[in-house]
Amino acid sequence: MKLLKEKIESEGIVLSENVLKVDSFINHQMDPVLMKEIGLEFAERFKDEAITKILTIESSGIAPAIMTGLALNVPVIFARKRKSLTLTTDLYTATVYSFTKQESNEITVSNKYITKGDNVLIIDDFLANGQAALGLASLVEQASAKVSGIGILIEKSFQPGADDLIAKGYRLESLARIEALKEGKVQFAKDRQLEKAFAGGI
Ligand code: G4P
Repeated sequence: MKLLKEKIESEGIVLSENVLKVDSFINHQMDPVLMKEIGLEFAERFKDEAITKILTIESSGIAPAIMTGLALNVPVIFARKRKSLTLTTDLYTATVYSFTKQESNEITVSNKYITKGDNVLIIDDFLANGQAALGLASLVEQASAKVSGIGILIEKSFQPGADDLIAKGYRLESLARIEALKEGKVQFAKDRQLEKAFAGGI
């Protein structure tokens, strides 16, 4: 997605070979115009999947998820990382280990909001090792609902999450794919469809 890549180029800060800081438009201050466009882009990409619910994880997934829910006219649920005072029973739970932060979180969703027959689109800001996406997929599957797709803003293609999700059979759409973070610069990978076309000699 051109707009997102331009934003990453102009405002993203490469903190190391593994970490890109995007605090000025995704992770702290948020850019509503960009989020609106992201919502429209995911809605277009997943328009044939009959999505009934969007699922994300607090906190940075919420903005793009709500804009996608608005564009597809479906409810948006966020998995909680901390136990809610009022939400204590009838929960689906999964453990998500973060390699980046080296900590585990128990993520939860009420069984009221995802049910059998739902076609769920998972949205998140970053895809690194894929643990958050896999945890969210597990919540959907505990509800006997279907993971109809996974939409990611920034995929770090040099980390194993993307290949892992695809190998497990999930449909993955990433709006910006990063091949490397080297010498303070972001190197983008081709969009997955283009990459496939090149590999097939088209
Ligand atoms: P994984 O889910 O793909 O396995 O990723 P990982 O454990 O490595 O990531 C844990 C947290 O770090 C997630 O945020 C993820 O969005 C974030 N993260 C991973 N790589 C980067 C990066 O290069 N840059 C930035 N800015 N964040 C990254 P979180 O803990 O859920 O935080 P938040 O959603 O509350 O912001």
